[in-house]
Amino acid sequence: MLYILDIYSNSIHLGGSPADIIVVKGLVKRFGDEVAIDGLDLVVREGDMFGFLGPNGAGKTAAVRVISTLTNFQEGEITVGGYDILKEPKKAKRLMGVIQQHISLDKDLTVRENMMHHALMYKIPPGERKKRIEALAGYVGLEEYMDRTIDSLSGGWKKRAAIVCSILHEPKILFLDEPTVGLDIQARRLLWDLIRKLNDGGTTIFLTSHYIEEIEALCDTVGVIDKGKLIAYGTPPDLCNKIGSTAVEYYSPHHTTEYRYFPSRNEANEFASTLGSEYTVIIRNTSLEDCFVELTGKKVEDG
Ligand SMILES: Nc1ncnc2c1ncn2[C@@H]1O[C@H](COP(=O)(O)OP(=O)(O)OP(=O)(O)O)[C@@H](O)[C@H]1O
Ligand SMILES: [Mg+2]
Repeated sequence: MLYILDIYSNSIHLGGSPADIIVVKGLVKRFGDEVAIDGLDLVVREGDMFGFLGPNGAGKTAAVRVISTLTNFQEGEITVGGYDILKEPKKAKRLMGVIQQHISLDKDLTVRENMMHHALMYKIPPGERKKRIEALAGYVGLEEYMDRTIDSLSGGWKKRAAIVCSILHEPKILFLDEPTVGLDIQARRLLWDLIRKLNDGGTTIFLTSHYIEEIEALCDTVGVIDKGKLIAYGTPPDLCNKIGSTAVEYYSPHHTTEYRYFPSRNEANEFASTLGSEYTVIIRNTSLEDCFVELTGKKVEDG
């Protein structure tokens, strides 16, 4: 049993509606003339495992950084745990932990020094600092790297160190921006397990990922963002129903693979029967990847 999960059972007063832990209204984020987020409305329910999907440059990282108070924004309103992040940034910030897409640890300090720095920054009581650091470092297998500088570690070990730093203060909401890019399979599974355990313990998870199977495996609710706007929101089955729950995939020796989606198997069968005999046809359930490609018009890219 993870030490941190015991602590997570303590309730934190959220100062607002308990159901919607993140509420974003009309968010606009610009970099100079470039609009990264273009009027985003988004709600994440407390305790949810929320997956944020979108093609490269869609605005996922910008949204994570704005909501978690790491960067400013030009228009809109954001509350986290009922706290307006502009009016009560410290209270909102304390509820959140962030694993950023680009690791932001101090590369000249050791792993332990970075962790201690985070523990101090989040005012973790002195008696608990070492205990939490050791428990979490042990869980992610970092023990033998604790006295090495961040600079001397491989990308995967850096990521593990960043993960520990981001959850030391037991945040109610954990943002993970492409957390498993660059991790080996073992580390990826370990992180999935950790994310599930944190979520079981009540932590709301806000996950961005290019790996559709990761979102499918972990998330209850999915938001799809494209060009800074939310274009779909719901459970994975909701999204599949939106484009049609049955997929017909067909190709011939001279053509690329094509896809059509239908609300029922009967309609899919009917369409398949109209295709010429030169086509190879597969009829199957629509997947989240189909929804993503159909909704954004882009292929899923490896991180
Ligand atoms: N520091 C910056 N300066 C200027 N433009 C930026 C900056 N950061 C992001 N952008 C722009 O904002 C838009 C959204 O970028 P963002 O990093 O949020 O995308 P993303 O969805 O996280 O993409 P990826 O999947 O590649 O991580 C892009 O058009 C990007 O070029
Ligand atoms: Mg990003």
